[in-house]
Amino acid sequence: MATFISNNPAETEAIGQRFAKDVNAGSILALKGELGSGKTQLVKGLVAGLGSGAAVTSPTFTILHEYSSGRFPVYHFDFFRLEDRQSVARLGLDDYFFGDGVSVIEWADRFPEFIPGQARWILFEIKSENTRAITLK
Ligand SMILES: Nc1ncnc2c1ncn2[C@@H]1O[C@H](COP(=O)(O)OP(=O)(O)OP(=O)(O)O)[C@@H](O)[C@H]1O
Ligand SMILES: [Mg+2]
Repeated sequence: MATFISNNPAETEAIGQRFAKDVNAGSILALKGELGSGKTQLVKGLVAGLGSGAAVTSPTFTILHEYSSGRFPVYHFDFFRLEDRQSVARLGLDDYFFGDGVSVIEWADRFPEFIPGQARWILFEIKSENTRAITLK
């Protein structure tokens, strides 16, 4: 377990960029933390760190964004708006989780039973207006 303290959005992005060095095809990152705690900000850094120039935005309404121009494709999910287990099941997550890219799931803790055991959990805590604690489990 390692905790990183971020004092502004750019630092959170830099942490995500560093994580990019440690992911491979089939890596799964499960993100947990309240609204505005920096999950999407970290994914921006991760995608940039994988060499993609894609603009990262929250996939809240579309559930999945795919960025394919980097070292690995990134499958960026957001479980926030999913209502029930059937909606999650319909996504066909295994095709992504066991595919050739990196899967990142915001609000993974809403349906933890769908997150494989080998996933790395990353916890986000708001410490103050601009400070976030980011813990890699
Ligand atoms: N140290 C920090 N790290 C990340 N974001 C910060 C930090 N300090 C302030 N912020 C602000 O907090 C917000 C984080 O937004 P972000 O979309 O990354 O959160 P999120 O966890 O994805 O939220 P949601 O659950 O709504 O998807 C942004 O408005 C950002 O400017
Ligand atoms: Mg988000």
